[in-house]
Amino acid sequence: MTAPDAPLFDLPAGTVYLDTAAQGPRLRSVLAAGHGALDASSAPWRLGLEQWQASIERVRALAAGCFDGDPEGVALVPSAAYGLAIAARNLPLAAGDAVAVLEGQFPSNLLCWQQRCLETGARLHAIPRNGPGWTDAVIEALDRLPSLRVLSLPHAYWHDGRLLDLDAISARCHQKGVALVLDLSQSLGALPADLVRWAPDFVVSVGHKWMLGPTGLAYLWASPHWRAHGVSIEHHWTARAVDDWRFPLDRPAPYRDGARRFDAGGVADPMRLSMAEAALGQLHDWGMASLPARLGMRTRALDTALRDAGLEGCCMPGHAPHFTGVRVPPDRMTAVAPVLDAAGIVCTRRHGVVRIAPHLHVDEAAMRRVADTLAAALHA
Ligand SMILES: Cc1ncc(COP(=O)(O)O)c(C=O)c1O
Repeated sequence: MTAPDAPLFDLPAGTVYLDTAAQGPRLRSVLAAGHGALDASSAPWRLGLEQWQASIERVRALAAGCFDGDPEGVALVPSAAYGLAIAARNLPLAAGDAVAVLEGQFPSNLLCWQQRCLETGARLHAIPRNGPGWTDAVIEALDRLPSLRVLSLPHAYWHDGRLLDLDAISARCHQKGVALVLDLSQSLGALPADLVRWAPDFVVSVGHKWMLGPTGLAYLWASPHWRAHGVSIEHHWTARAVDDWRFPLDRPAPYRDGARRFDAGGVADPMRLSMAEAALGQLHDWGMASLPARLGMRTRALDTALRDAGLEGCCMPGHAPHFTGVRVPPDRMTAVAPVLDAAGIVCTRRHGVVRIAPHLHVDEAAMRRVADTLAAALHA
């Protein structure tokens, strides 16, 4: 028996792909869209400017459906690092101020803050986990650091899927007057983002993980304030509003409306746009609201089977519905890796954690087999 949605994906037989947190499994529709755009690239003169701009706006609108539904808030950028650099460039910081990130946070959400702190004399704090989850530690940091100006966080921790309670964290941020920046690369497309409640300043996500699109096309959401007042880090002509290619010399051409001012050059290539449109269309066809429960059935099946095999201690407490980490004693990791490889199980193994990030191409029975494989390797 295979998962009902498995035929939608293009995966080699015998592979159990569980690395959506690295790169989403390829949908056949996305592959076909990419091939179609590559074929069409032999006759570039057939793609008119208006047609190209219309496809950019279609992708913007579809991506907005993963944020708050408003295309005016979304810019197309090449990477999470690029979007986060825009946040770091714009949020006010001065000597003595503090910025906080999670300890061990993904480097794209670390390096830009390190650089900005060097430039401004602000200090960077890493928040260590102080229990099974991150939320208490983050709230404690908000209460303990009066100089905190910016908090830059994910929704799910990239190594092991541990979830942060952004309802509670954002409420405390607003009480304390701290700007909130979110890197949702490990959740957007799989978990809802309640931007109305969280009221962040900037939100970014790559498009190639849970959004199932191509690499090199990520999305930046900016709050209404930054859509009106933000400054881009690159000055690409597509982000400017001019008539008939006339750019004045005495003053910069005005920005286009909304978050379009942050649109980056080079990312809106027809192949990426076609692939993203197909991927986002599929997510919307499934119904974004249904995905946490459907993906959650898969990780729950894994946890239940691990517990049944006596491996309760390996299960990750408080993980997100869509991915988790299986804790493996460091001295057992070298034994586990070849067993997973032999079973065709593709996943990331790092820092004593086997990260399990399925999508709808695998069913619960496959997840139970993964648990059995892990249990056999760990009990051996
Ligand atoms: C939490 C998180 N943020 C961002 C990224 C990617 O960032 P970038 O697009 O800058 O390579 C990843 C993984 O690749 C990630 O896990």
